[in-house]
Amino acid sequence: MTSHLPLLEIKNLSKSYGAVKAVNDVSIHIDRGEIAGLIGPNGSGKSTFFDCSTGLAKPDTGTVVLDGQDITGWSLNRIAREGRMLRSFQKTVTFRSLDVEENLVIAGQMFTFPSITSTFGLGKMSRQRVGGLRERARDLIKMAGLWDVRHQPAGNLSGGQQKLIQFASMLMPEPKLILLDEPMAGINPKIIERVVDTIRYANKSLGVSFLVIEHNIDVVTSICQRVIVLDQGAKLVEGLPGDIIQDQRVREAYLGG
Ligand SMILES: Nc1ncnc2c1ncn2[C@@H]1O[C@H](COP(=O)(O)OP(=O)(O)OP(=O)(O)O)[C@@H](O)[C@H]1O
Ligand SMILES: [Mg+2]
Repeated sequence: MTSHLPLLEIKNLSKSYGAVKAVNDVSIHIDRGEIAGLIGPNGSGKSTFFDCSTGLAKPDTGTVVLDGQDITGWSLNRIAREGRMLRSFQKTVTFRSLDVEENLVIAGQMFTFPSITSTFGLGKMSRQRVGGLRERARDLIKMAGLWDVRHQPAGNLSGGQQKLIQFASMLMPEPKLILLDEPMAGINPKIIERVVDTIRYANKSLGVSFLVIEHNIDVVTSICQRVIVLDQGAKLVEGLPGDIIQDQRVREAYLGG
C-alpha cells in the first residue's frame, strides 16, 4: 500500500557546484493532491533542487522517492515517462510552426506512445488513442482560454499564451506531479489569472499535485496549501502560507524585513 505515503519524498538532498553549496541537506515531501510552494531569495537553490529531483542534475547525496519507488539517479526522461513527474523550465518550449492543438496532441503522443509506433506505423488502436488525445487536448485548450487561437501557429502567439500552451502540454500525458519553475515570470496579470485557474483545474479535476517555485507571493498564498522556504541552499522553515509570510526569519531572509 503506497497510498498513505507522500507522493514525493526527498531526503537529505545536497548538491555543490565547486565551492558553492547550492542545495544543502534538504528534506521535503509532497502529499497526494497537494499544491506546495517553494520560495526563497535569488540563488537560494530552488532551481537546483528541481534539477536534482527530476533527473536533470545528479545530487551529491540524498534520495528521491516518488510514489513509493526510489527514482534517485533516474534520467529526466525516465522520470517523466515512468514516474509521471514533469517539470517546467523558465524558458518556454513550443513547436512554433504547429498550431496550438497539434502542440498538445504531440505532447501527449511523446509520452503515451512507445517508440515502436514509429517503426510499425499507427495501427487502429493507435488511431483511437490519437482521437482520445485530441479530445483531451481540446478540453485543456478550453480550460487554458486558448480556444479561439487553437488553429494558429504557436509561434504567432504572445509569450503568455505560449506559457499556457506549454503548461497545457504538460497536462497531456496525465502526470501525477508537476514541478513548476516560476510559471508567472514575465507574464501579464490577465494571463497570471489564467495560469492560476489552470493549475487549480488540473489539481481539483485531474488530480495533479504541484510543487511551484514562485516569487509572486500573492499567487503563492492563493494557490499553495503549504510553503517551503529555502535560504542559502538549506531549508529555513515550512508551514501554512499565512504563517510563512508572518515568520520573522522569512521576512529577514526574503521578504525584506
Ligand atoms: N549549473 C550550475 N553551475 C554552477 N553553479 C550553479 C549551477 N546551477 C546553479 N548554480 C549556483 O547554485 C546556486 C543556486 O542557484 P539556483 O539557480 O538553484 O537558485 P534559485 O533559488 O533558483 O535562484 P533564482 O531565484 O534566481 O532562480 C547559485 O549560487 C548558482 O550560481
Ligand atoms: Mg531559479
